[in-house]
Amino acid sequence: MVEDEKTIEMDTIVSLCKRRGFIFQSSEIYGGVGGSWDYGPFGVELKRNIKNVWWRDMVQRRDDMVGLDAGIIMNPRVWEASGHVESFTDPLVDCVNCKKRFRADHVEDGECPECGGQLTEPRLFNLMLKTFLGPVEDDAARTYLRPETAQGMFVNFANVLDVSRRKLPFGIAQIGKAFRNEITPRNFTFRTREFEQMEVEYFVKPGTDEEWHQRWVDERYGWYVKYGMRPEYLRLRQHEGDELAHYSKATHDIEYLFPFGWAELEGISNRTDFDLRQHTRSSGRELSYFDEESETHIVPYIIEPSGGVDRAALAFLVDAYREEKVRKRKRVVLRFHPELAPIKVAVFPLLRNRPELVALAKQIASELRMYVMTAYDDTASIGRLYRRQDEIGTPFCVTVDVESLEDNAVTIRDRDSMEQTRVPIPEVKDTLLDRLGEA
Ligand code: GAP
Repeated sequence: MVEDEKTIEMDTIVSLCKRRGFIFQSSEIYGGVGGSWDYGPFGVELKRNIKNVWWRDMVQRRDDMVGLDAGIIMNPRVWEASGHVESFTDPLVDCVNCKKRFRADHVEDGECPECGGQLTEPRLFNLMLKTFLGPVEDDAARTYLRPETAQGMFVNFANVLDVSRRKLPFGIAQIGKAFRNEITPRNFTFRTREFEQMEVEYFVKPGTDEEWHQRWVDERYGWYVKYGMRPEYLRLRQHEGDELAHYSKATHDIEYLFPFGWAELEGISNRTDFDLRQHTRSSGRELSYFDEESETHIVPYIIEPSGGVDRAALAFLVDAYREEKVRKRKRVVLRFHPELAPIKVAVFPLLRNRPELVALAKQIASELRMYVMTAYDDTASIGRLYRRQDEIGTPFCVTVDVESLEDNAVTIRDRDSMEQTRVPIPEVKDTLLDRLGEA
């Protein structure tokens, strides 16, 4: 088995995603819509697995975290206090010739990238998606689809503190949709107008913020490695002073080397006490913490690890993709970490025209289905069935053959080594669960 060192093209990933049912263009039958994508049968499983392991690691397995699921639509005053109405903007230029619009920082040498025409002076364009509440579409009814999940956690700080009786440091975690009217959605699902975020807002005592910031950077970097991302394709990059968001004292990005270059997977920011102070000022509700040690009210600092589910899914897909030569033929395989693999086990009968083999394979599949995502397939030859499962990253295939009827055993094939082992049917479930759990 020889691994092909060729660098992957983005088109290869896009076409695999469509062909195998990970990601489709949104509203494809109408010609699509910019910046929105649909996750197909395997994509939805991949995304759910990413969110599940994130939640398990960030909330369930820590005693300093609680969860939240806030609304996408919030009081528009939230976005004034947060600074988004004023500062969540991109500078745009228009081409006077072809009328196309570009982000000023994406244009080189002052010419239209499409037709070489003259460009206007940059103008600021707010990225929040606007909508109206109720029947009258006027300014009073105007609100926004949230551009980040973070604000839901800030405005609920007092509610969560009251009910959870937490002491500092503690955090709130949330996974949910966010919307941005990106001018140039690009690179498949990397920059879209509708996406999902997984965010933690971690409240700490002022003065301990820098230490906690570093701890979260290490924690989050380690998380991507834990689920199989190759460290040589990951790096940390600290924001320069002029790059920092208006709320941030320091931000470190975790970047992945995508086929289109290094790009941000997740940002970990030290947001200081900016958000709680802004919302206290704007709402008139005190958002502080009573510190029993010093017997004073303090406004916690916030450390924010903020990642995108879609970006993580894309990076895990790209990272898992391998082209290998097996007996002179190309094998495409997604080497997903078993926790992330959409399907954990696929069961096949070696011969689909033998009803006893089909019945036994179906029975094994239906038992396994009670424990893990399991597929049954008999629509092609065994070689093709293996290839199909390799392409969607299924860690194990179980094959029922003629001998199975006599020795009551089946063959388990390992996706990565392609090794096959014979296992008695009564031991199949435990063997697979053990091997899935070992990784
Ligand atoms: N609350 C902080 C915040 O929202 P951000 O850097 O703007 O910070 C955090 O976004 C993460 O959300 C990014 O690292 C990225 O993974 C994801 N993200 C942001 N904009 C996105 C977009 N247009 N498409 C897909 N994911 C996006």
